[in-house]
Amino acid sequence: MDRIAIVGGAKLNGQIPISGAKNSAIKLMAASLLTDEPLRLTNMPRLADTRFLGKLLQRLGAEVVEAEGPDGGETLLTTREIVSGFAPYDLVRQMRASFNVLGPLLARTGQAKVSLPGGCTIGARPVDLHLKALEALGARIDLHEGYVYAQAPRGLKGAVINFPINSVGATEHAMLAAVLADGDTVLENAAAEPELADLAECLNAMGAKVSGAGTRTVHIQGVSRLHGATHSVIPDRIETGTYAVAAAMAGGEVRLTRTRGHLIQSLIDKLIEAGVEVTTHDDGLTVKRGPDRLRPVEIETAPHPGFATDLQAQFMALMTLADGESIIRETIFENRFMHVPELGRLGADISVQGGEARVRGVEALTGAQVMATDLRASVSLVIAGLAARGETIVNRVYHLDRGFERLEEKLGACGAQVRRLKGDGVEAEVE
Ligand code: UD1
Repeated sequence: MDRIAIVGGAKLNGQIPISGAKNSAIKLMAASLLTDEPLRLTNMPRLADTRFLGKLLQRLGAEVVEAEGPDGGETLLTTREIVSGFAPYDLVRQMRASFNVLGPLLARTGQAKVSLPGGCTIGARPVDLHLKALEALGARIDLHEGYVYAQAPRGLKGAVINFPINSVGATEHAMLAAVLADGDTVLENAAAEPELADLAECLNAMGAKVSGAGTRTVHIQGVSRLHGATHSVIPDRIETGTYAVAAAMAGGEVRLTRTRGHLIQSLIDKLIEAGVEVTTHDDGLTVKRGPDRLRPVEIETAPHPGFATDLQAQFMALMTLADGESIIRETIFENRFMHVPELGRLGADISVQGGEARVRGVEALTGAQVMATDLRASVSLVIAGLAARGETIVNRVYHLDRGFERLEEKLGACGAQVRRLKGDGVEAEVE
């Protein structure tokens, strides 16, 4: 398994192009199951997660062709026929979002057998809301030996679905199923993350009738069939925010291109509060940090447009060097402070009580060996390493490879001293 070595202290200066959003790409790929015509996705990130989902889709009957287009990675997905409605445990447990093939399989063929995703390192992450939404659309759901058996022999029927909390995955799942349902569906208290609007845009290009995606109420008028389309994946707001924090941590001036500032407005507000200069432009944003120490800032994660939980670990890394105590509250996932002890190994002073972390800024961090525990936690260790004295080695970087495209290359191009150490002989674990 690879490791990443970072020698801290170099300022970041230059330009980083942002890739297409992982979290959007994998749902868009699942949407391709809804039609027998080709779906061409452009601005596709090349990541372990997208490769992985491609393999699952192939098992279900999709033809998946990757190419380099004028605008970066392209993936052409064609599922003329669903050859299997079965997504086994060993595949779904490796990537939770594979569970989202359930809705499209059900909508297109009236049946599916998909493994429950099981636990995950950042908390219990149940799928009860996904299943309730599918039931509301008329599916019969049976749980048996860790599998969801779903049936809708006479097709799905439009319904009003009121979510008790904002769930990205459940909202996407309901949308993926309801587009082919008979009649109208209303999703109330829906998740409003930008990836939802991206999914709706793609589904509409395929002939669906979805309005209001990206707000709390989504209307879907069911159609009897969808057709092929071309869709460009939205920029990755988490990658955007991660590099914005990296620039703030290391100092210097970095221009993030092929993205949009408004996708991370809540982070930008907090960076500015901490003393970082951020300017937005048509093609992205520029982040500049001078020599002064940053001010401590209080953040609380919340559904979009609040502060993204996927940027919490990175922001905490930044606050470890702030001039005073900052408070970080995690409200989305119960076990999302696993980076805290690892940041502690680098010299950070952080205490956690329940969902609240108190970060007392220190003068300096010192490089050490650390362990990546999940996708976002692992990149926070890279960020900390950029400013730590000496060398930081991040183990288990397969977590990073799941969600960050060419990380060493992108940071290296701006002057960071980051290199990948190939294989240490330890088998990769799956999440
Ligand atoms: C997605 C993102 C993930 C991000 C998260 C929150 C993908 C692949 N992943 O995850 O990076 O951190 O949104 O922005 O897009 N919940 C239930 N029952 C359910 C579903 C969710 O109780 O059936 C709870 C979860 O435990 C969590 C909250 O709802 O506390 C929000 O989770 P959700 O928005 O569904 O996250 P994911 O879609 O899994």
